[in-house]
Amino acid sequence: MTQEFSAILIEWQKRHGRRDLPWQISNDPYAIWVSEIMLQQTQVVTVIPYYERFLSAFPNLEALASASLDDVLSLWSGLGYYSRARNLHKAAKMLSNLGKFPDSPEALSGLPGIGRSTAAAIAAFAFSRRAAILDGNVKRVFARFFGIEGHPGEKGVENRMWEKAESLLPESEIGCYTQALMDLGAGLCSRRNPDCAKCPLNSGCIARLSGRVHELPQPAPKKALPLRETTFLVLAREGRLLFERRPGKGIWAELLCFPELAQGQDLSVFDPSNTECLPSFTHAFTHFRLKIEAVLIETGKHREGIWLSMEEALASPIPNPVRKILGRIRQPFP
Ligand code: ADE
Repeated sequence: MTQEFSAILIEWQKRHGRRDLPWQISNDPYAIWVSEIMLQQTQVVTVIPYYERFLSAFPNLEALASASLDDVLSLWSGLGYYSRARNLHKAAKMLSNLGKFPDSPEALSGLPGIGRSTAAAIAAFAFSRRAAILDGNVKRVFARFFGIEGHPGEKGVENRMWEKAESLLPESEIGCYTQALMDLGAGLCSRRNPDCAKCPLNSGCIARLSGRVHELPQPAPKKALPLRETTFLVLAREGRLLFERRPGKGIWAELLCFPELAQGQDLSVFDPSNTECLPSFTHAFTHFRLKIEAVLIETGKHREGIWLSMEEALASPIPNPVRKILGRIRQPFP
């Protein structure tokens, strides 16, 4: 079965797999590393334009290591999960001091932002190292094909999957096999719309044979995410908007954001000549949801902070909710 599993996938990849993605063109470990970090929590179609802009701005390790964090965050702005960008930058500095790109999964997984699966993917794609990946999509393929019960986020279930992943590795063509697993998980074996009829593994898939494709992998026990609320103060003066840099820790660390209304604070302190409530919305984080109200306040008073035109703001490192609010402001604003 071990041999068969990988052989089927490699064959399938050669016939049907994606081979023209921008990070598949070379085996430059730097380019592969950047792509794998971007792809950790984001889909291929979303990543492509960000990846291309990032690689144009920072074509190699030295360029990234010597860039400012602000420039790195600006190019990441909109992709979310900004700790990925901060870790990438930090790791680039470490690697540039090291003078050589590590080629083993063990050495790679010691770097900021690189876990066991990402280290294996980089080692497999860039150095043809026999190393096992296990991201969320691969967990789904294994849960279904092998009929593995339990939520893959549970340690015991995950450990069993790692053992499986290690035992299935082919003797050769590790890059092709790794890409096949990723592509199968992201495509034919998707969570909601699996296309079993086209799947190369369908004849041995336990979930399919037992009619449980939509039940596996088992979901995490449901936990309601807490709801927090905030009000953004969008202060406008002479065609500019006021921003503050977020602290180095916590959500949106180091990004530019609107000031927030403090507990018990009254809008009259801003001496507004006009105010307008913008439509509220909820933004989902991993551990909580944030209801965001935004008030556009025309003010004649100068305040300390970072005053930016709309164009400057859109080119700055801002989180998605701020970008969304900017899109809702009628132009020209006061
Ligand atoms: N997800 C993570 N890495 C990937 C890759 N190299 N190609 C497609 N999807 C991925």
